[in-house]
Amino acid sequence: MQTFNTVPDIRIEFGGASNLANHLEGLGESKRVVIITDKGVSNLGLISKGLTSLESKGYSVMVYNEVVADPPEEMVLNAIERIKEFNPGVVIGFGGGSPMDTAKVIAHLCIDGTNIKDLYGVNKANNHRLPLILIPTTAGTGSEVTNVAIITTGSTSKEAIVANSLYADRVLLDAKLTLGLPKQITAATGIDAMVHAIEAYTSVIKKNPLSDTFAIAALRKLQSAIIPACIDGNNLEARNQMLLGAMLAGQAFTNAPVGAVHGLAYPLGGFFHIPHGLSNALVLTEVMEYNLPKANHWYGQIARELKVGETGMDLIKEMKRIKDETGVPQTLSEVGIPANAIPDMAKDAMSKTRVLRNNPVKMTYDAAVSIYERIL
Ligand SMILES: NC(=O)c1ccc[n+]([C@@H]2O[C@H](COP(=O)([O-])OP(=O)(O)OC[C@H]3O[C@@H](n4cnc5c(N)ncnc54)[C@H](O)[C@@H]3O)[C@@H](O)[C@H]2O)c1
Ligand SMILES: [Fe+2]
Repeated sequence: MQTFNTVPDIRIEFGGASNLANHLEGLGESKRVVIITDKGVSNLGLISKGLTSLESKGYSVMVYNEVVADPPEEMVLNAIERIKEFNPGVVIGFGGGSPMDTAKVIAHLCIDGTNIKDLYGVNKANNHRLPLILIPTTAGTGSEVTNVAIITTGSTSKEAIVANSLYADRVLLDAKLTLGLPKQITAATGIDAMVHAIEAYTSVIKKNPLSDTFAIAALRKLQSAIIPACIDGNNLEARNQMLLGAMLAGQAFTNAPVGAVHGLAYPLGGFFHIPHGLSNALVLTEVMEYNLPKANHWYGQIARELKVGETGMDLIKEMKRIKDETGVPQTLSEVGIPANAIPDMAKDAMSKTRVLRNNPVKMTYDAAVSIYERIL
């Protein structure tokens, strides 16, 4: 049996975050709302019109803006303690993947005494949660439409909470929020979204006709918009296409999960705090070449859909072109990762069985070492 799940209510409104109160209608009776965000997003003023909108409609609002990138468990637990005192009835995740993932966990944990450690893994988070609306301000993770939250649990380790109760009740896509994204974040998060779609299309266990359709639709938008969005951040059409593309890719990979690109990218974030999108961009094309013996057919289909050629190698060349033109770093040395870290990173990558099992070619320790060496 093949299945496809997604968020039931997805709204697309340029400038919609300014009318935030309108978008809470129907999400419960409570007028107490907590907004989960980070200092970068709040200092840019992205939530201010939304706050005015909520206050003018009689909502009491708590802003929790202390989310840090790659949310650590301890930060999430401290947030829950403070937010419980406020007693919210609705949770809004407002920002990139880090605030949205934090909001998913808070919606679960601020209404009962469940221990966060009991939620890690697949289908463990089935407790009741508060109503949840997610509003992305980056175009990358697709977290707004996934049933996943990624939490940093140690100095180098991350855990995933995966369960359908993590699908939000509602998503608001407002491309206006992404206009100020710096070029580097636009490029890295945009490539992350492309990786989601490519890995969903080659996901050996759960690939299905719907995830394929969403992956191709995502890649068409992302491939045509990523360079224009990097060149001119105020290009509204490009920003809109990036946000839609990232969401479509999120819908694809939440149903047909990612593979070894993510598996080899995670240790770069875990050990060296390289941003998630950049980690993926660094290992992407080498992992694709490794996958060619089994994935050539699928990569070739994508290349034809994108009109960049016929073969798997044509898609790899296209992704190399995008990396070149967006100017993302291309080597581990450029981001400060030394050669002597490779054995530990490869060992750590091999523990990411949740994603490696979806890869078209079995990933081995030796292959991981040689992929890292080639991008040194
Ligand atoms: N849940 C999922 O399905 C899923 C999937 C992939 C990744 N993730 C997780 O998502 C996180 C990464 O998320 P991300 O890449 O969106 O980055 P992020 O949320 O960590 O944000 C990165 C930086 O961008 C800034 N920023 C956000 N929006 C901005 C805007 N509009 N203008 C200017 N700056 C802005 C933030 O302030 C922050 O400094 C990681 O923790 C990763 O593990 C989750
Ligand atoms: Fe990702």
